[in-house]
Amino acid sequence: MKLYRLNQPGIDTLALCEEEVPRPGPGQALVRVRATSLNYRDLMTVSGRYARGAPMAGLVPLSDGAGEVVEVGAGVTRVKAGDRVAGIFMQRWVAGRITPEASASALGGAVHGMMAEYVVLDQDGLVHVPAHLSFEEAACLPCAAVTAWHAVVEHARVRAGETVLVQGTGGVSIFALQFARLLGARVIATSSSDDKLLRAFSLGASDGINYRAAPEWQAEAVRLTGGAGVDEIVEVGGAGTFARSLDAVRLGGCISMIGVLTGAAEVNPVGIMRKSLSVRGIYVGSREMFEDMNRAIGLHGLRPVIDRVFPFVEAREALKHMQGASHFGKIVIRHD
Ligand SMILES: NC(=O)c1ccc[n+]([C@@H]2O[C@H](COP(=O)([O-])OP(=O)(O)OC[C@H]3O[C@@H](n4cnc5c(N)ncnc54)[C@H](OP(=O)(O)O)[C@@H]3O)[C@@H](O)[C@H]2O)c1
Repeated sequence: MKLYRLNQPGIDTLALCEEEVPRPGPGQALVRVRATSLNYRDLMTVSGRYARGAPMAGLVPLSDGAGEVVEVGAGVTRVKAGDRVAGIFMQRWVAGRITPEASASALGGAVHGMMAEYVVLDQDGLVHVPAHLSFEEAACLPCAAVTAWHAVVEHARVRAGETVLVQGTGGVSIFALQFARLLGARVIATSSSDDKLLRAFSLGASDGINYRAAPEWQAEAVRLTGGAGVDEIVEVGGAGTFARSLDAVRLGGCISMIGVLTGAAEVNPVGIMRKSLSVRGIYVGSREMFEDMNRAIGLHGLRPVIDRVFPFVEAREALKHMQGASHFGKIVIRHD
């Protein structure tokens, strides 16, 4: 089988290798990976910039993949051959609170990931994917979608009529937009591009702010909410956005702290305290959250927004496409 290994940092040095198909041991399943998707973290990992530590030599990158079970080991009851599945981001976070053990089990980081034609995963590290989704669509779910679900549903508990502000139009933010709309909330999207804002409108965002043209976007967000501020901010910017998010959110509102695209920030605690904010650091989510999300996705027929699909042999071009930041939603690699 073919797979990619990261022997040294750099997109161009990512090595396409040929190895034996692995066999599942007790409690494990062999999955034929049909598609993977990229997250900003994968770009950081491959470029040697991932904040959670240097990757092991020979790491198989990528957390997100979907495919079909082809063989199971002894004692496997959760899946069977032919099942359509995705790996969960943290292989050992099934439910409840995040633990150090769960945190040390992230695919494509702490453990080998999905950038291969076949992978062996523990049966507990798999979920069934919604029936209406293609493998390309299902491969978008494990990191970006579960993170957005954790923020909008588990943390902010967004209700119909509330306002959610999503920053930018990358993978996490577009899923957050979709989930907020599914719950009946109003969405304000920010973007560096007016064209991308038009696409966000087509997904149900009611307002858009170009943060390049209007660097004081927080003032516009407050104006758009009649002076009250938004109920939740899906915060992916970090240093360049966090202080503005504190201004844009309402008294008693939520900031879901997900990304640091513009670097790490000094945090002034005063605004958090004075506004009685709930600021929660989000690290993807558990299998239980993934399964809850899949039920909602299945019930509502929700489809991930795919920017572009690359063939497996062009995986390096896919990473460069993410680096260019022209994408809207998810970038997918097809493993045929
Ligand atoms: N904590 C977690 O569990 C978790 C999980 C997933 C992702 N993340 C983090 O979340 C961030 C987004 O990840 P992703 O995979 O969705 O990335 P992505 O698909 O590459 O999205 C990046 C987009 O963010 C927008 N952006 C960049 N700078 C911005 C700014 N100053 N203000 C507002 N928007 C800005 C841009 O949108 P426009 O082109 O529209 O301007 C850009 O296209 C990354 O930092 C990633 O590491 C964290």
